[in-house]
Amino acid sequence: MSGEIRDEEMDTAGRILLEGGLVAFPTETVYGLGANALDEAAAARIYEAKGRPSDNPLIVHIADLEALDKIAAAGEDGPWRKLADAFWPGPLTMIFPKKQIVPDTTTGGLETVAVRMPAHPVALELIRRGGGYIAAPSANTSGRPSPTRAAHVLEDMNGRIDVIIDGGDVGIGLESTIVDLTGEVPVILRPGYISREMLSEVLGRVEMDAGLDSDDPAVRPKAPGMRYRHYAPKARMVIVEGDPEKVIEQINRLAEQDRKAGRQAGILASDESRDFYQAGVVRSVGSRREEITIAMHLYALLREFDELGVDCIYSEAFHTPQIGQAIMNRLIRAAGHQVISV
Ligand code: TXA
Ligand code: MG
Repeated sequence: MSGEIRDEEMDTAGRILLEGGLVAFPTETVYGLGANALDEAAAARIYEAKGRPSDNPLIVHIADLEALDKIAAAGEDGPWRKLADAFWPGPLTMIFPKKQIVPDTTTGGLETVAVRMPAHPVALELIRRGGGYIAAPSANTSGRPSPTRAAHVLEDMNGRIDVIIDGGDVGIGLESTIVDLTGEVPVILRPGYISREMLSEVLGRVEMDAGLDSDDPAVRPKAPGMRYRHYAPKARMVIVEGDPEKVIEQINRLAEQDRKAGRQAGILASDESRDFYQAGVVRSVGSRREEITIAMHLYALLREFDELGVDCIYSEAFHTPQIGQAIMNRLIRAAGHQVISV
């Protein structure tokens, strides 16, 4: 991750934002596609560039706590302040009742607003130069894996946006944890690097949105974006979970079947297992002993499988201790809930 601030580039990018344009920029989680959050027409351009449904709200990025009061009815104190003390700037998004000044386009018509103070120095500087309130979804075409390097943004957004600030590879690789603070009990709407345990240490009781893991179509995720097929590679994808040896056996069997049928399989393995696979294109997503490497490489690898044009992807499961919940949340969506237990 490069935090180098190139003054002239930042100056131009800030000006583009103030004039209602679109700027892609690095954050510590994934690359964002930024526009002035308080300018309705600018926010509308984000939806257009991404092909994003208009009811899927954007996160407003701020660079200091003073900015919060202008857009959110957070109240003087409350759980949000403890979370801000502990995790801002950082990979945490909080949901608040919104103030009038935030256009409906930015919040997808909701009466609440999602706010995050990112930790990346380039992001913070850009927010300051761009007016202080930058709406930024992940800078991918809607439905594709989020970009973790500038080349991914270019793949999806070339010709649709005004400028891309290249900050190298991101540090985390999965989108921020979203926590809804508008109810009695804080609820996690999207798991991320800041885990439930970390939030509980600060707040006490924290719940997971029941809609996240539900197979019942009547129980929908609270975050509109978690309802869509998301993070999806082009190939059919299946997760195989269970005893590590049995997982390898099962994936080898499936990949061999594909080979015989003239199909190419992509195998999403780990450093620990990669040498045990015999058919298909094998790629390690990282080491189970360093969970962050798995988070960091996941989206890039899904994009690579797209490029290779594999017909199906078999992935190991990654129920790792800290970020496992976030990794599995993204993997399960990428696989359209296709999970085989062995
Ligand atoms: O790490 C991140 O959060 C990245 C970087 C760029 O900051 N941004 C990001 O934005 O992931 P996006 O738009 O790809 O995901 C935002 C998610 C969507 O699922 C959206 O539905 C949800 O946040 N969201 C936004 N505002 C909301 C609100 N008021 N209530 C519930 N969910 C909301
Ligand atoms: Mg996204």
